[in-house]
Amino acid sequence: MTTILACHRISKTYGHGALAETALKEVSLQFCPGETVLLLGPSGSGKTTLLSILGCLLSPSAGEVEIEGLRVPSTSPGKLVSIRRDKIGFVFQHAQLLPFLSVADNLKIIGKNIGLNGADSKLRINSLTTRLGIAPFLHRKPSDLSGGQRQRVAIARALVHRPVIILADEPTAALDWANGQVVIDLLIEQAKAAKSVLIVVTHDTRLIKLFDRVLYVDSGRVHES
Ligand SMILES: Nc1ncnc2c1ncn2[C@@H]1O[C@H](COP(=O)(O)OP(=O)(O)OP(=O)(O)O)[C@@H](O)[C@H]1O
Ligand SMILES: [Mg+2]
Repeated sequence: MTTILACHRISKTYGHGALAETALKEVSLQFCPGETVLLLGPSGSGKTTLLSILGCLLSPSAGEVEIEGLRVPSTSPGKLVSIRRDKIGFVFQHAQLLPFLSVADNLKIIGKNIGLNGADSKLRINSLTTRLGIAPFLHRKPSDLSGGQRQRVAIARALVHRPVIILADEPTAALDWANGQVVIDLLIEQAKAAKSVLIVVTHDTRLIKLFDRVLYVDSGRVHES
């Protein structure tokens, strides 16, 4: 089976000297197209750090990330920007929408960045926002939405461009169970349809049965379930 995303012995240390904290320790993982993965672990164990490195948002202190068989160059900021734009959909632990743009423009800009045609982008945005129950809020600014509505916009934003890698950091944390189910079903469906790898961080063990694979992060080390 081909690998779409991998990391080889990645470690991450924050800070220096007496303040140094090693958040990840020699983590090696491989992910296949269409694979859905749940990432569990206690607070502070390194889940967001791992997701951020896999999503090319953060450089590891040691080790390498590989996307579609190519090593991610940690020294080329321009290349990292294009990998993130073209290959990755990231749902942040806190939505991080652009506050000065409407919901619609927050979503349109993603398609525009990768050269998606305007009509295709509109159809895609309509379908995702309808499914997520946020279509009525397209004209609003993120500040005029509830936390859960903002989080659902962030889910739509991560999926607009059909990325080959979908990474979601606690995507259901601000949602009730029913809306959380809609989000998880949509993420899994999109990953299977586009043969993308999906990695979801959560504290909700009820989701285990819905995913192909479960990983536990414990003090910076990752164990397969
Ligand atoms: N920017 C930073 N500078 C210094 N230390 C950091 C930084 N970011 C994270 N850490 C530390 O690294 C460790 C792992 O943090 P991380 O955010 O990856 O944990 P997490 O598993 O996502 O936790 P949570 O479930 O609370 O979101 C923690 O001990 C945290 O204090
Ligand atoms: Mg976290």
